[in-house]
Amino acid sequence: MTSDIESIQSEALAAIDAAQDLRALDELRVAELGKKGRLTAILKTLGGMEPEQRKQVGGQVNQAKAALQQAINARKDALERAEIDAKLSSEAIDVTLPGRGIEPGTLHPLRRTAERISALFGSIGFEVVSGPEIEDDWHNFEALNFPPEHPARAMHDTFWVNGGSHVLRTHTSPVQVRTMQARKPPLRIIAPGRVYRCDSDRTHSPMFHQIEGLYVAENVSFADLKSDLQQFLSLYFEREVETRFRPSYFPFTEPSCEVDIRYEDLRGRTGWMEILGCGMVHPNVFKAVGLDPEAVTGYAFGMGVERMAMLRYGVDDLRLFFDNDTRFLKQFSAFGNVFGAAA
Ligand code: FA5
Ligand code: MG
Repeated sequence: MTSDIESIQSEALAAIDAAQDLRALDELRVAELGKKGRLTAILKTLGGMEPEQRKQVGGQVNQAKAALQQAINARKDALERAEIDAKLSSEAIDVTLPGRGIEPGTLHPLRRTAERISALFGSIGFEVVSGPEIEDDWHNFEALNFPPEHPARAMHDTFWVNGGSHVLRTHTSPVQVRTMQARKPPLRIIAPGRVYRCDSDRTHSPMFHQIEGLYVAENVSFADLKSDLQQFLSLYFEREVETRFRPSYFPFTEPSCEVDIRYEDLRGRTGWMEILGCGMVHPNVFKAVGLDPEAVTGYAFGMGVERMAMLRYGVDDLRLFFDNDTRFLKQFSAFGNVFGAAA
């Protein structure tokens, strides 16, 4: 019996030492120490033994069980440690590998264009202001001398919100109104921002950018408007561009005109592209904001940023600006970078 117990113990100890993973070790534990184990079977025979023998054999079995349990615990610790080590080394980060790198981004050509336009007007004393993109009917239309049923309202083909009390602003001109309500002349501001219309083709996008300009003081004339715009355009394009001041109509200016730029496309075809609407601030707009049209005059313009970018960079479809294709966008990094240089 004694030698039986000893050989069970040494056999089991060898198997425990050889167990390659926690599962195998647990199977061994059940087989050797569980209810169906060989040591348990011996314990079951104790009842038929003489008291002396019972005491001796019982003691030996319990010792063997304790030794096996201890060996199992030790092996379990070792296996667990090995598992952690393996995990650590397989997940190790090689700090000597070169980094993947972060490519420096560049400004979007539309952002670059808007900043360039703002900087040029800033250099002749215009301050940059902004207004909300969700605008109320009064600021977008009413105060700008659009009567309720005026066809120009339908012309805008507008995105109405809040059951018609508000609009996604159709132009940046409401910022004129907000500025004149908030401050006294002399005023010289530009207001860049997003505007929205139900429009979509090669030269029209449903969301696009305008830059509003407003100059209000005593004795501002149409000659000021024309010379300021001409001067701006030659600075912006850095070359002489052919311009056309074409008489037009806006309810909030009188007289009004639109400015077109002559361009040549890659195939050598020429045409005129409209870049802005402008005119002398209408007396009714001054009245709406509480200014005396006899005391002040002013000019205003609203310039399309996408069109200015198309003309400067030779892009013939404005939708390319909104595709977010980096092969297209990357081409503009050559025109200067985030850290300044002219765009
Ligand atoms: C206006 O929006 C007037 N508020 C401009 C104005 C301001 C006139 C102040 C007088 C005084 P117009 O609808 O023409 O005008 O738009 C102005 C410019 O925005 C256009 O010349 C064009 O360059 C650009 N534009 C108009 N619609 C789109 C469009 N869907 N996508 C891209 N650019 C557009
Ligand atoms: Mg127009």
